[in-house]
Amino acid sequence: MEIKELEKEWLIPFYDRFNITIKKGKKHYVFDEKGKKYLDFASGIAVVNFGHANRKINNAIKKQIDSITHASNLYYNKLQIELAKKISEKSFKAKVFFCNSGAEANEAAIKVARLYGNSKKAGKNKIIALYNSFHGRTIATISMTGQEKYKKGFEPLLENFIFIEANNVKQLEENFNEEICAIFLEAIQGEGGINKLTDNFVKKARELATKFDALLIFDEVQTGIGRTGKYFGYQNFDILPDGFTLAKGLGNGVPIGAFVVKPEIADMMKSGLHASTFGGNFLACASALKVLDMLDEKILKKINYLSEIFKMELEKIKQKFPKIIKEIRIYGLMIGIELSDKLEVKDIINKFISKNILTLRAGQNVLRLLPPFTIGEKEILDFCNVFEDILKDGEVL
Ligand SMILES: Cc1ncc(COP(=O)(O)O)c(C=O)c1O
Repeated sequence: MEIKELEKEWLIPFYDRFNITIKKGKKHYVFDEKGKKYLDFASGIAVVNFGHANRKINNAIKKQIDSITHASNLYYNKLQIELAKKISEKSFKAKVFFCNSGAEANEAAIKVARLYGNSKKAGKNKIIALYNSFHGRTIATISMTGQEKYKKGFEPLLENFIFIEANNVKQLEENFNEEICAIFLEAIQGEGGINKLTDNFVKKARELATKFDALLIFDEVQTGIGRTGKYFGYQNFDILPDGFTLAKGLGNGVPIGAFVVKPEIADMMKSGLHASTFGGNFLACASALKVLDMLDEKILKKINYLSEIFKMELEKIKQKFPKIIKEIRIYGLMIGIELSDKLEVKDIINKFISKNILTLRAGQNVLRLLPPFTIGEKEILDFCNVFEDILKDGEVL
């Protein structure tokens, strides 16, 4: 039986898949069942940042598997402490809670924000979030997500989320008050279409959060772990948040999430208020520890260098096809190419697949690229040549 039919028989049909069955991967390539090779500019949606089957990460995982993978959070675990320290070294002095995914990290952050607010003042339990944001698929995180398509049919959702437009300082000022316990921001909206916040908006958010004793929390699930050319996305701005969430690239494919928060807020929490069975188990921590070892200034330099090459090459294509490419937005190796409404981004993605390249969509009509940090100039030029061929071909228009 074909995999499509087998999937229909056995899996809940939540996914609309592209027609590829991936069997293995190496660095920035994946291979299908017949051995066909694809250049992977998706990284499993910003997860496999250090490439598929990374030798150093695999060795760390293998070593850990032969020792112990899981013992639960009933007992001390040195790896969690080492990992928390390493995250803190690259951000600010903080304490960490480990979980298994981005949505879970945001759930933890929402719970902590409510505990924080409720402990300060009755009714201080409202959270500001942005339209067009994406924070996950649990009930709390779809409630905080500013896109209707993720919420429809799941009502009643969680209350007390207030949505404002990204970069609208007036709305930010109008909606901030004593009842706000937190504001959640993505430095660059990922699923929303690769939209960066302005310096002014972020500065104002910091100012108002401090003024009204609310937490400024960055959702770094997609922007963290070097993706934007900084260790974490908030470092593109001249502020410090009170906390941030991580997942995706943290384990390079081994599921792990984290909520990182200033010690004075962490110290308001008590045992038993939150937990996760798998959260920060030995296996996940071993992988994440190796990821953080590899996430250094040298790799950031490489990401920023490649980003410049991408910018140059994509601008050249934009000049050749000004009616098709509306805008190019590049922050490190987080890239959005906004296409004309006359074009369906899904058709472009399928065209890329037919030419052995994996890409992603985001927002309305944005082609999103999140290549692994293992790529070089050659892969960028290969991608750009194929992109130009697709646009020249005109079939997708
Ligand atoms: C910014 C952001 N937050 C949260 C999530 C949810 O992460 P997960 O799918 O691991 O729950 C995502 C996933 O795309 C994301 O991009």
